[in-house]
Amino acid sequence: GSRRDRSARLLSWYDRHRRVLPWRAAPGERADPYRVWLSEIMLQQTTVATVGPYFQEFLRRWPTVLALAAADLDDVLRAWAGLGYYARARNLHRCAVAVARDHGGRFPDSEAELRHLPGIGDYTAAAVAAIAFDRPAAAVDGNVERVLARVFRVEEPLPAAKPRLRALAAALVPETRAGDHTQALFDLGATICTPRRPRCILCPWQPDCAAFAAGVQEDLPRKVAK
Ligand code: ADE
Repeated sequence: GSRRDRSARLLSWYDRHRRVLPWRAAPGERADPYRVWLSEIMLQQTTVATVGPYFQEFLRRWPTVLALAAADLDDVLRAWAGLGYYARARNLHRCAVAVARDHGGRFPDSEAELRHLPGIGDYTAAAVAAIAFDRPAAAVDGNVERVLARVFRVEEPLPAAKPRLRALAAALVPETRAGDHTQALFDLGATICTPRRPRCILCPWQPDCAAFAAGVQEDLPRKVAK
């Protein structure tokens, strides 16, 4: 199918099967950039199930980026305990201070400006731009890499395939609903296009999937032995 068909099928699947997650806006509601950013930082190297209670507790104690900027760093580090990688918590606080001081307490809405903030790299900048601001940015994490390696039957192993996968991801982002598209890819990777035994029979992209057509979905993505 065309790029538009593909995008429409993914969004229609998401409308029917989207996961309810604590940081997600209800359908039709505007996303809160602070929640999107906080969740994306927490979700790096930590599972959705673990992040849930931490996310709720952070929001209860520091409901806005200004509140977090004004928090004591030691309190933030204590609340972070258990999530690991303390550099993330330090950068979280530094980023809140920078948003308060340099941006009047509002997250910037472009990928380029977001990337200048502490702790925000390519992935997080794209995720926040897309999910919080519906900018057509491609956030590519391990789940998304797996989905795309299969749909396009990318035989080149990771990590060498990363630039190609990023280019494929960028070409797929629709002009509207970029945030839902991004979250749909996360959900597809987490619930359908799983590392083992993917549920291809339920997949909205099965008709487009080159790996499925060849029966090689479980072999992709290939990885160079570490
Ligand atoms: N993994 C990374 N970001 C995510 C999100 N916003 N929703 C679900 N899984 C994710």
